[in-house]
Amino acid sequence: MSDTPPLSQAVHNTTTRHAIFMVATLNAVAGAAETVRGWCEDVANLVRSVGTRAPEQNLSCVCAFGSSAWDALFGAPRPAALHPFREFGSGERVAVATPGDILLHIRADSMDLCFELATLLRNGLGDAVTVVDEIHGFRYFDRRAIIGFVDGTENPEGREAADFTVIGDEDAEFAGGSYVLVQKYLHDMTGWNALTVENQEGIIGRHKLSNVELGDDVKPSWSHSSLTTLEENGEEVKIVRDNMPFGRPGSGEFGTYFIGYARSPAPIEQMLENMFVGRPAGNYDRLLDYSRAVTGCLFFVPSADLLESLASREPAASEAAVAPSAAGAAA
Ligand code: HEM
Repeated sequence: MSDTPPLSQAVHNTTTRHAIFMVATLNAVAGAAETVRGWCEDVANLVRSVGTRAPEQNLSCVCAFGSSAWDALFGAPRPAALHPFREFGSGERVAVATPGDILLHIRADSMDLCFELATLLRNGLGDAVTVVDEIHGFRYFDRRAIIGFVDGTENPEGREAADFTVIGDEDAEFAGGSYVLVQKYLHDMTGWNALTVENQEGIIGRHKLSNVELGDDVKPSWSHSSLTTLEENGEEVKIVRDNMPFGRPGSGEFGTYFIGYARSPAPIEQMLENMFVGRPAGNYDRLLDYSRAVTGCLFFVPSADLLESLASREPAASEAAVAPSAAGAAA
C-alpha cells in the first residue's frame, strides 16, 4: 500500500467570483443507486473537460453526500462523524434541517464555467435525483456579504486550512475527506439598513468600511465574530467558509449562502449553537434578528480518490433501497 495520503477534493480552494450550490435528493426509482455510483467516477473528468477550456477561471467542484444517502448508496463502512443535520434554537430562531442527499459546490471566476459544469453534472444524474435547491452566488464588490461587511477575513489559509478541514488518522478509512454544512439565509434588508452603521458593526464585531476587528473592550459578547470564535485547550478551532451573496432584487430576496468545511461537524455545530441558542443561552447572535435560515444540511465530502472508487463499491455492501433523506421523509 502506498504511503501517499489520499487526494482531497477542492475543499479549501481559493475563493472565486461565482459559485453554484446544488442540493439534490435521491429518487426512489429503479437503478437510481447504480446511476449515482457510476456518476461518481465521471465527476473529476467533467471538471477537467470544462476547466481546461479556460484554466485561468479556476473551476472546481466539491461533491458530497448526506447521512442517509451514504447508507443507501455505499453502505458500510461509513464516515465516523456523519449524521443528519442537527437543528439548533427554538421559536423565531431555528437552524432548520431540510432534505439533502447530494451537494454540488461548483466554483469559478466566471459563471459560464459554473453553469456548464452544473449542466453536465446534473444531466449525468438523470432521473436518479430531484434538485431541491439551486443557488447561483456572486462575489459582491470587495468580498462583501449582501449585508455590506467583508466576509471570509478570518478564514485559515494554506497548510492551516488543510489542517482544519481534512480528515486524518482519526478516521483513517476516510482520510482526505471533510464535512460540509450548508445553510441558505434570507435577510431582512429593510430592518438591517434601518440600523446605524455603529449598531451593525457591534452585531458583526468588525468595522464596516475598513473591515478592522472591533477592540475587545467594545466588541459585544453577542457579536457574530465573538460567538463563532471557538477555543479548545487554549487553541483556536477554525473552519473554512466560502459564503456567497445571492438574491433577486425584483422579488425583494437578499441572501447569504453559508458553506462551512471542517474535519468534523462538531466545530460548525458548536458555532450554530452559540449563534442560535447563545453563549451563554440567551446571549445569541443578533445577526439572526435580521437573517432567517431556510435550509440546513450536513454532508460528507469523500477524498477525490475515494469519490472515484465509490463507483465500484460492491452492490452487496449497499443493498439498502434508495430512500428519500430522513429530513425529506419528515417534511
Ligand atoms: C447570515 C449568514 C452569515 C453572514 C452574513 C456571515 C457573515 C460574516 C462576516 C461578515 C464575518 C466577519 C469577517 C470574517 O469572515 O471573518 C463572519 C465571520 C465568521 N463567521 Fe459568519 N456569517 C454568516 C453565518 C455564519 C454561520 C452559520 C457560521 C458558522 C456556523 C459562521 C461562522 C463564522 C466564523 C467562524 C467567522 C470568523 C470569526 C472570527 O474568527 O472572528 N458564519 N461572518
